Amino acid sequence: MAGAAGGELAGEVSSAGGFGFISAGYGTSLDEFKQQLSLARSALRAPPPNQFPVGVGYLAWQLEKPNSSLVDLLPIALEHNVQAVWFAFGEDLGRWIQFVRDHDKRMGKDKKTIIFVQISTVKEALVAVNEWKVDCIVAQGVESGGHGAGYALPTFNLLPLILSAIPADSPPILAAGGLANGGHLASVLTLGAAGAVLGTRFLLAHESLYSDAQRKALVDASSEMSVRSMAWDHARETLGWPAGIDGRGLRNSTVNDFEGGVYIETLKTKFKEGVKNQDTDRMIVWAGTGVGQMGGTQSAKSIVEELHRECIEHLVAATQLYS
Ligand SMILES: Cc1cc2nc3c(=O)[nH]c(=O)nc-3n(C[C@H](O)[C@H](O)[C@H](O)COP(=O)(O)O)c2cc1C
Repeated sequence: MAGAAGGELAGEVSSAGGFGFISAGYGTSLDEFKQQLSLARSALRAPPPNQFPVGVGYLAWQLEKPNSSLVDLLPIALEHNVQAVWFAFGEDLGRWIQFVRDHDKRMGKDKKTIIFVQISTVKEALVAVNEWKVDCIVAQGVESGGHGAGYALPTFNLLPLILSAIPADSPPILAAGGLANGGHLASVLTLGAAGAVLGTRFLLAHESLYSDAQRKALVDASSEMSVRSMAWDHARETLGWPAGIDGRGLRNSTVNDFEGGVYIETLKTKFKEGVKNQDTDRMIVWAGTGVGQMGGTQSAKSIVEELHRECIEHLVAATQLYS
């Protein structure tokens, strides 16, 4: 989660029984990145010996940019022995997967780095299984907060279609998009997912890199405010995403002005001013459709524990339907 998931959040999630990722997004410097890795290490409570149970997520289109400094952050993560890497949103994910496999081989690693890829169609899932031979697939539905494929199916349609298209011995499929609570988690598990990825819910964690103003906007929001748009990428000048990728966040004046055809330089100026003043009516607050069903801010640990408890309650309640 670029701009939201740092080391503290990732470490806390992994310590609580989930699996946390640090993001290596746009313009992450080497020093910042190393600092996030060290924050993750400090946040981990009693990690297994010689293991670093967090992952690092890379925006592949940023890796693919000519002279991208982000490329340097990939071997750094591997040398720090992170347990997993995540790739999404690139023209050539296979290249980065091979990079990791080759690096593991050169280092003579006994435990290979677990490779996650996030995809949005059945076709992409088949490539991930058959060609890239990844270790874990994240099926990202259109409800997802942050960037994603505007053309993706809803999670509840995408997941079963992928599960029925891939061979039985395929790697685990995790569902992502619009999931707010343990009931949602239970429902994707009963559909056949091996687990789930929750992004927006963890923006509410005290340990996320979101500001108090952004967290308050999420707490106050309703699901109807979650919209897909390119407005924010235009406003902050982060264009260049692969075709069909846009972002889902809380509708605000940046989106309204963009849709109303306001001059782009005016949009950018107001956006910059908004960021300076922490005005969430101008800045970005990424949010999936599950926003508005997430309660308030909590520690990452209590979010993971609550999701787990609610999920079990729902699974147990479901057994009452037939017993
Ligand atoms: C603030 C934010 C940043 C995100 N950044 C990334 C990213 O850098 N790379 C990526 O693959 N997905 C990113 N995502 C998408 C998540 O991986 C995930 O698919 C999504 O959050 C799931 O939907 P949900 O937010 O409704 O739970 C981001 C999501 C959010 C909310």
